[in-house]
Amino acid sequence: MNKAITLALTGASGAPYALRLLECLVQADYRVYLLASSAARVVLKTEQQQEWPSSPKEISAYLCRQYGAKEGQIVACGKEEWFSPVASGSAAPRQMVVCPCSMGTVSAIANGTSDNLLERAADVVIKERGQLILVPRESPFSAIHLENMLKLARLGVTIMPAAPGFYHEPKSIADLVDFMVARILDHLGIEHALTRRWGYAKG
Ligand SMILES: Cc1cc2nc3c(=O)[nH]c(=O)nc-3n(C[C@H](O)[C@H](O)[C@H](O)COP(=O)(O)O)c2cc1C
Repeated sequence: MNKAITLALTGASGAPYALRLLECLVQADYRVYLLASSAARVVLKTEQQQEWPSSPKEISAYLCRQYGAKEGQIVACGKEEWFSPVASGSAAPRQMVVCPCSMGTVSAIANGTSDNLLERAADVVIKERGQLILVPRESPFSAIHLENMLKLARLGVTIMPAAPGFYHEPKSIADLVDFMVARILDHLGIEHALTRRWGYAKG
């Protein structure tokens, strides 16, 4: 476990993407610093009928059990845990994914608000010129959303909307989820066999 990444969940629809991504990161032997907004927990309950415990320590233990992770492999952090490694450029992982990413969090990151640990962690990755991937979901996008995303894209942030393709002939929701997660893993440089690649023969 010598690779680390920050995974943040916010209150946009798309909790299944986040959980599948977490599973894949654990399998790839990453230590995952996990951040979840209050709205993310509401979405998790609504979409996945999942209720996480209240304290970060309990969340870490619960998710480690759930995903067969090693002890300490999933590190949940509280929203005002300012001494977490992700809060400082001197210790934060250089890769971070916000999945799913609400328009509220897109705005906060685009404006450098840093009002909670999740926003601060994204701010740190941008200032350190690391790799920040946002998986936004909203429909339609307003000009505010688009301007915020354009600003971030120009700073080098990868905007990867939760918009799975259908050309791989998905048979299930799990196939659609894997399509998105596969693209995220591709960008992170993590090998996987979740989907068939473009141009490869079927079967
Ligand atoms: C079930 C549910 C689904 C939501 N879906 C979206 C969405 O797809 N996109 C979005 O931007 N906000 C969505 N919201 C609203 C956000 O959760 C809300 O704006 C929240 O303040 C975002 O806070 P956060 O960015 O701190 O997570 C949804 C809320 C709920 C409860």
